[in-house]
Amino acid sequence: MTKFITFEGVDGAGKSTHLAWFSDALRQRGVDVIVTREPGGTPLGEQLREILLNQTMSIGTEAMLMFASRLEHVEQVIKPALAVGKWVISDRFSDASFAYQGGGRGMDWEKLRQLERWVHPDLQPDLTLFFDVPVEVARQRLASNVSLDRFEQEQGCFFERVRAGYHRRVAENPSRYVVINAAQSMSAVQQQLAEIIASL
Ligand code: TYD
Repeated sequence: MTKFITFEGVDGAGKSTHLAWFSDALRQRGVDVIVTREPGGTPLGEQLREILLNQTMSIGTEAMLMFASRLEHVEQVIKPALAVGKWVISDRFSDASFAYQGGGRGMDWEKLRQLERWVHPDLQPDLTLFFDVPVEVARQRLASNVSLDRFEQEQGCFFERVRAGYHRRVAENPSRYVVINAAQSMSAVQQQLAEIIASL
């Protein structure tokens, strides 16, 4: 039984808060789970994250660095953990590259598919929770943050394209996703997450 679960959503959807709640709930049920994130998740990946979140670069470079970080992550962390029976929960994975670099930045979808096939030809999440929220709501939630990274500083129209990119990915393979209405209250979302955990 492989359990690789990813969390996705536009910045401000609340995914990181829900991820912490979800992984605690799994641990309370005795599941051996590791929590990780992208970009990042390895020492080299975390260095790439610093660059990706702070430095201006061309779109292709951005996409390739995202996938470079992912290759390390898959090989050094995700596959070894799954191989010994741990569950892996990742705060973002390849769907984010399709949504942000593909949808947001307009990078060719087929090129991203090529990178995906190269980096993880035989691995996909078993389940992806997509926290979907109207962009205005996500922007309001971000407004209280003191420092915003290079992505979070983008305009609303960028996030509309990111959101559309996520919806395109969901439409391509609906059975992998649960789409969660992240505009709901925290407790309503947690209720839904508890049901998902029970089903797992
Ligand atoms: P995020 O999960 O939002 O980190 P935090 O919650 O700490 O702010 O991820 C950082 C940013 O990286 C986010 O704006 C989306 C972006 N990103 C991409 O553009 N492409 C990718 O492939 C990934 C994994 C992330």
